[in-house]
Amino acid sequence: MILRSSDIDKLDKYYRINLINQLSGVKGANLIGSVSGTGLSNVAIFNSVIHIGANPASVGFVLRPLTVARHTYSNIMETGFYTINQVSSSFIDKAHHTSGKYAEGISEFTEVGLQEEYLGDFKAPYVGESKIRMGVSFVEKHEIALNGTVLMVGKIEELVIEDGLIESTGHLDLDAANAMGVAGLDTYYGVKKRVRKGYVSLG
Ligand SMILES: Cc1cc2nc3c(=O)[nH]c(=O)nc-3n(C[C@H](O)[C@H](O)[C@H](O)COP(=O)(O)O)c2cc1C
Repeated sequence: MILRSSDIDKLDKYYRINLINQLSGVKGANLIGSVSGTGLSNVAIFNSVIHIGANPASVGFVLRPLTVARHTYSNIMETGFYTINQVSSSFIDKAHHTSGKYAEGISEFTEVGLQEEYLGDFKAPYVGESKIRMGVSFVEKHEIALNGTVLMVGKIEELVIEDGLIESTGHLDLDAANAMGVAGLDTYYGVKKRVRKGYVSLG
């Protein structure tokens, strides 16, 4: 089957969303926690969290166009901080439900029943159920001219990881964390390590 750009443009809207959103494969399922300047918390699921760099430790995610209210975005702009919390299989339903459009003034933490946890003096809420968590400070944003989506880049200020999940080499045991992957906006996958390869040295 070959679909050219002009064919893709003509596809039914939801068929196109399902197809195009899954092309990049299975990505990590993460919850981003944030809080407004007035103290109203927010948590929402994202499939676009990406590694930016290890030095300084940094991470990115892609936000949909800012044509409607986006609480994760406005909270980050107001406070400068957010958390990224990996989704495990035990709370996948609650995590998925954070994607609903809840009214202004409603915290998804209470609405879906996820534990809102403040650790030390970090200014954004963590998801209590999550085993692999990052506290992040906002660094920069880049609007994608093509469609108005925004790449948000942050610096990892702290890591909060359940005991036993970091191996002696620094690798994470994602199997033991029951980490979930997601393709597109609705299809969740379990992750299973197959093999770890050595560094490829050509000299
Ligand atoms: C599996 C899944 C992945 C999602 N990934 C993203 C994403 O990467 N970027 C985004 O802007 N919205 C994404 N969404 C939609 C947000 O979760 C949704 O818009 C949410 O309401 C945003 O909440 P907020 O307005 O409180 O920030 C995703 C939804 C689902 C179900």
